Amino acid sequence: MYFAASWRPLNGSEPRRAPLRPGRLKFAQGALSGLIPNGLSWPVMRTRSLALLCRSLVSFLIVSVPVAAPSGLAIAQAVPPSNPQLAAPQLNARVDALLKKMTLDEKIGQLAQFSAGFATGPNASNQHFDDMVAKGQVGSFLNVAGADATNHYQHIAMEKTRLHIPLIFGLDVIHGHHTTFPIPLAVAASFDPAMAGIVAHTGAVEARADGVPWVFSPMVDIARDPRWGRIVESNGEDPYLGSVMARAWVRGYQQGDLSKPDSVAVSVKHFAAYGAAIAGRDYNATDMSQITLRQVYLKPYQAAVEEGAATMMSSFNSINGIPATADPLTLTQILRKEWGFNGFVVSDWGAVAELVNHSLGDGPTVARKALEAGLDMDMEGNLFGTVIAAQVRSGKIPESVVDEAVRRILRVKFVLGLFDHPYTTPGPAYDATPERRALARKVADETLVLLKNDPVEAVGTLLPLSGKIKTVALIGPLADNQRDLLGAWSAGDPKYVVTLRKALEERLGADHVLYAYGCGLLSGHDEEVLNNVNFGGSAAANGTNAVSDDDKPIAEAVETAKKADVAMRALGESANWMEGEASSRVHLGFTGNQEKLLEAVAATGKPIILVVLAGRPLEIKWAGQHVPAILEAWSPGVEGGHAIADILFGDVNPSGKLPASLPRAVGQEPLYYAQMPTGRPAHGDLSHMPANSLEKFMSRYVDEENSALYPFGWGLSYTRFAYSTPTLSRQTVPLKEVSASGHAPVITVGVDVRNTGSVAGTEVVQLYIRIPNVSVEQPVRELKGFTRVTLAPGESKHVEFPLGFDELNFYNVDLRQVIEATTYNVWVGGSSLATAETSFQVVE
Ligand code: NOJ
Repeated sequence: MYFAASWRPLNGSEPRRAPLRPGRLKFAQGALSGLIPNGLSWPVMRTRSLALLCRSLVSFLIVSVPVAAPSGLAIAQAVPPSNPQLAAPQLNARVDALLKKMTLDEKIGQLAQFSAGFATGPNASNQHFDDMVAKGQVGSFLNVAGADATNHYQHIAMEKTRLHIPLIFGLDVIHGHHTTFPIPLAVAASFDPAMAGIVAHTGAVEARADGVPWVFSPMVDIARDPRWGRIVESNGEDPYLGSVMARAWVRGYQQGDLSKPDSVAVSVKHFAAYGAAIAGRDYNATDMSQITLRQVYLKPYQAAVEEGAATMMSSFNSINGIPATADPLTLTQILRKEWGFNGFVVSDWGAVAELVNHSLGDGPTVARKALEAGLDMDMEGNLFGTVIAAQVRSGKIPESVVDEAVRRILRVKFVLGLFDHPYTTPGPAYDATPERRALARKVADETLVLLKNDPVEAVGTLLPLSGKIKTVALIGPLADNQRDLLGAWSAGDPKYVVTLRKALEERLGADHVLYAYGCGLLSGHDEEVLNNVNFGGSAAANGTNAVSDDDKPIAEAVETAKKADVAMRALGESANWMEGEASSRVHLGFTGNQEKLLEAVAATGKPIILVVLAGRPLEIKWAGQHVPAILEAWSPGVEGGHAIADILFGDVNPSGKLPASLPRAVGQEPLYYAQMPTGRPAHGDLSHMPANSLEKFMSRYVDEENSALYPFGWGLSYTRFAYSTPTLSRQTVPLKEVSASGHAPVITVGVDVRNTGSVAGTEVVQLYIRIPNVSVEQPVRELKGFTRVTLAPGESKHVEFPLGFDELNFYNVDLRQVIEATTYNVWVGGSSLATAETSFQVVE
């Protein structure tokens, strides 16, 4: 059996975009310097006049980027438009014809977006919008959904405005719409782009039925710090996995054809580098080298753009001192000129107005800076709508800048078919049908990660649960909690959620599931405070708003555990209060008294199975040391209970892998496997204090190990897999050949994977490389390929990973993507700890 393991031909076809010429195209600060007038330094140029320079150089369809010629001189090379549909000449003729008829005020109306429903940020304007829509002062709404609500505004736009331009409705459809799938971080744990495709496409169909043709998804921010609550919406810590998943989400939503009635336009967010918020605090600044920005953080956005993403959302953060919402480097130079992006960019909620807090100037100034930097639509900010027109009339802002933003927005409206089909036919009320549930369960089954399954004396491994186990004590605040299993962000109704308690009772019979709540998700003062500000949170949903006294339920849980064969615990954090936006945490353990509950039940000596339900990697060190079986179940969505039971009972063999490292202690954060080398690499046993100077003066902590408790890529199965020594299609690759190979592979790594256990299982085979001895230090390991392989007991399959310029290049100090002659180390295995090793050389 043969598998080609690379994301490139994911759907069997090459990316639509014409291949770039690696090693030649790559924009670099040095390359651009040929275009910078004498006497202006790069940073000055970047902040003062790059926007104008870019606009004068860029045509909206074909953009030119500097390409390093052998001499180092910059020459122009065309970058094709990222979305061919948006570049169609007929479409653009329609757009131009309409634009010609528009007054300045009508144009500016297109740039204004308002929230006309529930608020997903502070200070919703809560205006009465009918009149504004009729006057053409609104181009888009967010947070309006449902046929009736959207049709109401759309009728006004289509019937009362002079030019009958439809509104575009945008909404956060994050992990499904009504049918709630596992959170995106969990979907990434499947290492299966097909799962992202299912979630996205189901969300698209349901969003369209609700009158929403535009979703604020996928979030592709690299997230390496679980203190940041928004890690829940991400694909985790790795740029390669993040890029593969980014493409899959975009394909699932847009289906390569925005005109299909069940396609929606995506808004890839948050551009850029929002995930690197300093100290994991939401909305905080990011600060990183240009190499890290390009080599790590920008990769998934670029992948999404190459996949045809129709829109992007700018982020709240500043990047190296420039707020992203007004950053010409990211919004114009990189996005439009280097990547050929031809959709539009919407700000995040109020982010244009927030530029005043960033100290970029007063309202009119920041609006101008954002628009000129390349931002097209102002979300819930009201600045573009109020302060741009006067500046155009006074000559401060060229009207052509406004025209360009309007063109970009109208193109998307046309392609989505909104001019021809502006209304939504009301359909039947949503129901969680068996078909929808089956999809949610299928995805959830693949997302669960078995972290640990150590044998217990006289019992063996606890999982999968054998027929011998008759009675389970099910304990914990998340065991029977519908709201928190749903996860952070969907329109799903908790009433549809199958809890773990329900799923166990279906299998074992209610008499054999002894349930005990155990304790609240919060305790004491925290619970009081959070209950006062909760947004329909779990405590309220459970009717337990009173501050609970946890000692009594803990004692009851201990007694319950004693009566059962095994004690199963469902612990974690509240999805509703602690995951997602504005939910940064500095304490990453189980909240409230859950740890106390865990240790009290463990003291009974009953074998314990721990199910962790959380939207981020939690700090679970005690459990890792004392609990024999641990399943990471994330926030698993509407079919969560069934999926967990599928794994616990062995109907489904776990195959999920961690997309983000689980720390031993929060002080290790940001913790990720692709660390840079140090001059004093830590080695040996770091589990104790340094005993001498050799042990002390290395890059380590004195009070904790460096490594993750469970690292990136980690996940167990009920079977075992053995790897052969990897083989290579060749030992050496000429530098010239790989530098000129475009997207084509130049070498193939092969490995045989064998199922050595007694049950069938699926392994995520992962390939890592290291590029030592080159001009810029590279991480100690980087993921460069993965594939899922299903094997019957005893079966073996040969897996191949083609590698080429895309996988082997890095950014040099001139910000050029290059390959240098060196030895490439390669590892293949089932996690980032992979040990099957080989190496090949790139030679001059
Ligand atoms: C703010 C969030 O950062 C963003 O992800 C979301 O799409 C918007 N609000 C709209 O709700």
